[in-house]
Amino acid sequence: GSTLHAAASEKGRYFGTAIAAGRMNDATYMGIVDREFGMITAENEMKMDATEPNRGQFSYTNGDRIVNDALGKGKKVRGHTLAWHAQQPGWMQSMSGSALRQALLNHVTQVATHYKGKIYAWDVVNEAFADDGRGSRRDSNLQRTGNDWIEAAFRAARAADPGAKLCYNDYGTDSINPKSTAVYDMVRDFKARGVPIDCVGFQSHFGTTIPSDYRANLQRFADLGVDVQITELDIEQGSNQANAYRQVVEACLAVSRCTGITVWGVRDTDSWRTGKNPLLFDGNGNKKAAYTSTLNAL
Ligand code: XIL
Repeated sequence: GSTLHAAASEKGRYFGTAIAAGRMNDATYMGIVDREFGMITAENEMKMDATEPNRGQFSYTNGDRIVNDALGKGKKVRGHTLAWHAQQPGWMQSMSGSALRQALLNHVTQVATHYKGKIYAWDVVNEAFADDGRGSRRDSNLQRTGNDWIEAAFRAARAADPGAKLCYNDYGTDSINPKSTAVYDMVRDFKARGVPIDCVGFQSHFGTTIPSDYRANLQRFADLGVDVQITELDIEQGSNQANAYRQVVEACLAVSRCTGITVWGVRDTDSWRTGKNPLLFDGNGNKKAAYTSTLNAL
């Protein structure tokens, strides 16, 4: 294949990117998106603060722009994200207890229902584990409603859109470590008890290197009977960037249940990691060495 998604498709995988609705009128940007990518994630437009800015009032304008544009061009969409401690609307930030639990499940149900039939996979829950080296749950208003809030969100999502794959997504879980092992134990428990979960997303926001046990970690999750996906890939610019992107592709291709890779933005100037130049295209939209090594590895 001569583009990222065409090459990935030949290997039975997808290659995607996150996009911002506010950049969709930029011809250089959309030209690259249309040409190179077959899976689209909304960078911010489907998060809780965007979709339910006031309690019970849902706002889908920007999310719909992204989803309908992608589907109209024959691309697929990853939904990001139904439940997260961050980017909550103000009204939700100040809630707690059973009222918050009810508001969360209503949010999951409403948003998943709105997009029913249009989403390849939902990040149902994002970043619910802590970085304390002990695999604890992250403290948040959602966690304080009870440890079962994650499975409640997954059950609500399945009921609303039975056709979407349901994923747990996190960062810092890319290697074998206490945090990823805690997620692993949760997924194993969900599978054992019939809690609906289909996939695990590994954000993969990397410094200049990737973990040596990246492939082994993806494989141990796949062995639980879930798909794995690389969901928010970016790698800091440096002399190793092209090599590191190649290693990510090789890790995914080595795991049969690794279904695809998404990079978190198009050009370096579009990245949330300001100054790190972590993406595949430079600020002018030109292909970087990292692009070529990625394409060649696919
Ligand atoms: C980031 C976006 O890229 C930024 O535009 C926004 O200001 C903050 O969120 N983990 C996630 C993504 O799951 O939603 C985050 O996206 C990056 C870290």
